[in-house]
Formats: sequence, C-alpha cells, structure tokens
Amino acid sequence: MSRTGLRRRLSIIDDIAMYTLLLVQMLYIFTGNTVHEILGIAFFVCLVIHIILKLPAIKGMLKRKSKPTASRRFSDIVTVLLFISIIVLMLTSMGVSRLIFPWFRALGSVSLHRYMATAVLTLAVIHGGMHGYMRTKKKKRAVVIISLASAAALAIGLFAVPYMNRHLKKVEVDYSQAVNGERIDVKGNKPLVVYFTRLGNTDFEDDIDAVSGASLLRADGKLTGSNELLADMLTDMLSCDSKAITLTGQKYPSSYAKTISVAGDELDEQARPDIEKIDVSGYDSVILVYPLWWGSIPMPVASFLENSELSGKTVYLVATQGSSGFGSTVKEVAKLAEGADVKEVISIYCEDIPKAREQLFEKFKEIYS
Ligand SMILES: Cc1cc2nc3c(=O)[nH]c(=O)nc-3n(C[C@H](O)[C@H](O)[C@H](O)COP(=O)(O)O)c2cc1C
Repeated sequence: MSRTGLRRRLSIIDDIAMYTLLLVQMLYIFTGNTVHEILGIAFFVCLVIHIILKLPAIKGMLKRKSKPTASRRFSDIVTVLLFISIIVLMLTSMGVSRLIFPWFRALGSVSLHRYMATAVLTLAVIHGGMHGYMRTKKKKRAVVIISLASAAALAIGLFAVPYMNRHLKKVEVDYSQAVNGERIDVKGNKPLVVYFTRLGNTDFEDDIDAVSGASLLRADGKLTGSNELLADMLTDMLSCDSKAITLTGQKYPSSYAKTISVAGDELDEQARPDIEKIDVSGYDSVILVYPLWWGSIPMPVASFLENSELSGKTVYLVATQGSSGFGSTVKEVAKLAEGADVKEVISIYCEDIPKAREQLFEKFKEIYS
C-alpha cells in the first residue's frame, strides 16, 4: 500500500475512534469516572495522531494564497473553532479530573466541561461533514445530512445527557459498608455532627425515588440525603450524636431546578428560614456537614449558625459540592459563628459521597491524634 493510502486508512480509523470516544464519553453516567478519565486521555492521543496525519492539509490551510471558496472558508472557520473548543475542553477535563489531574483546579467547572463537550461533538460533526460536502456532487443532500447530524449532536449534549443524568442514574448504596467501620478515639472530646440535606427539607412527592430525586441516595432500600449519609459515617466513626437542620416553615420545591432558583433568591435576600432549635450546649465542637448552594452555605445553615451559641467551640467544616470546593463558605461560617474557631476539614465531590468514609476517617484521625 502507498504511503498516501496508508495515511488515509489510518486517518479513517482514527476519525472513527474519535467520534466513538466522544459519544461514549457522553455516557458518563454508565461508564463512571475512572473509565471516563482514561477514555479522555485516549481521545487526546487520537487527536494528536489526527493532527500528525493531517499536517499536510493543515500546512495547506495556513499557507493558502488563492482566495478560498465560501465552503472552504466555512470549513476552515469550523476547524479553528473546533480546535479552540478542544483545547478548552482539555483544560476543563483536567480541572474536573479527580483521578489523573487532581492537582489541576483551573476551569474546574462541571457545567463548563459539559457545554464544551457538546460544542466539540457538534463542531466535530460539522467538521467531518464539510469534508464530505466538498467531495460530493450532491451538495443539497450533504447540507441536509450535516444540519440533521449537528442538530442531533447538539440535542445529545444539551438534552439527552442531562435527561439520562436525571432519570437513569441509580445510586444504590450498601449502607453498612458505606457507614460502619473503624472508630476514632476522640479522647474525652464531645463533638456534635450537625448536617443539612435536601431530604426532609423538601416537598418531595410520596413516590420520589433515588432516580428522579437528584442528590438522594438509596441506602439499603431507604432514601437518604447525601449529606445525611456523611453525617451517619461521622457519628459511627466518632461515636457521637448528630442533629439535622430541619425547616419548620415552607420546604424547598421537589424540582431540583426550582430549588436552585429559590435558593438563589434566599441567598440574595440573605434570608434566615425558621428551623428547629438545635441545642449545642454540652458539646465542645460542632462538625458542620452541608452542601454548597450557589458557592455559599444554604440559608437554613446560616439560621443555625446565627441561632446557636458557638463561642469558644470549634466548628469543623465538611462541605459537599458539584465542583466548587469550599466556595466562600469558610469565611461565611467564620462571620456567622461568632467567637468560634472555624476549621475547614474536607470538601467532597457529590459523586464521591458514598465512598467518602476513608477520607473522612483520615482527616478526623489527624484532628484527634
Ligand atoms: C440549590 C443548589 C445549589 C447548588 N449550588 C452549587 C454550587 O454553587 N457549587 C457546587 O459545586 N455545587 C452546587 N450544588 C450541588 C450540591 O452542593 C451537591 O449536589 C450536594 O452534594 C447536595 O447534597 P444533598 O443531596 O445532601 O442536598 C447545588 C445544589 C443545589 C440543590
């Protein structure tokens, strides 16, 4: 086979691998994080091979002297946009990586990562389609196929993937395996775990399940809030009490999207929703377990901090989040828990919650050593 023939054949195989990988990467909820990160690396290896194989065409594009046709110019613009999108996707991939690049935190937004993946898939479809368009004589048919295929790529990223995330994601947890384990000697200290979670503070329908209710887990058949599961791990390992921050008035709406909007309004207004009184006297420290809401603490947590006498106590912070670390919560808690010694302990990514016992154990063992 001639060198050109071999190059063309390799190029086709590489292109098929890249499109397949992009689609499989969209099925994150089925593959899980480890496979997703490894396939991400495979995608970028294929990209480097693609660029090497296409070097003559890239050089041609950069050195072109004659005025390009409209379709060639459009194709060039798509190629440049695709290249930029892939670079940003690569940076966001590193930013949200927890396995291969845990030290890289720039552009660590899961939403940005998802949008960039959608942009790359859509532009890749147009990019590949334009090569076909320029070769075929049936231009109209090519335009229809490219339009439909790119609309499908856009719909997969914007609607199908979020839909699958909301409706097909089963989080079944073996409760005793997740929660029970080695104990820590707290050496006469008396910590209290105080947690806030959506379950119990939300108007869920009676038939809500862990699939339709984001941030709910099914632990041994019983619905559990994810922060509640962390609180249970802590009470088990520290042999201490725990109390839930519970609203006494209006609860949050069942819809996740509506809760986000209500929580945003509450944050803007610095609302202090009414909650059941939590008596912290008799404890020397409070381990506060809370989800990040809008990069901040949920306002019922602010109500707890303002209504409690925490002066002279240590407040340990255990946050959960979808990408934002501690956000601005450390400063916020320090401001509200007047006179308390506020210490950040760990911020846990929401999908890691069921397996977080070991991480929590290491952190608290150090604290009570
Ligand atoms: C109203 C709302 C706002 C949120 N805002 C953020 C955010 O700003 N940053 C982030 O990383 N995660 C955010 N999340 C994701 C939660 O912090 C994460 O899913 C958490 O694990 C939920 O815990 P729960 O199931 O116990 O309620 C938000 C979730 C909700 C419901």
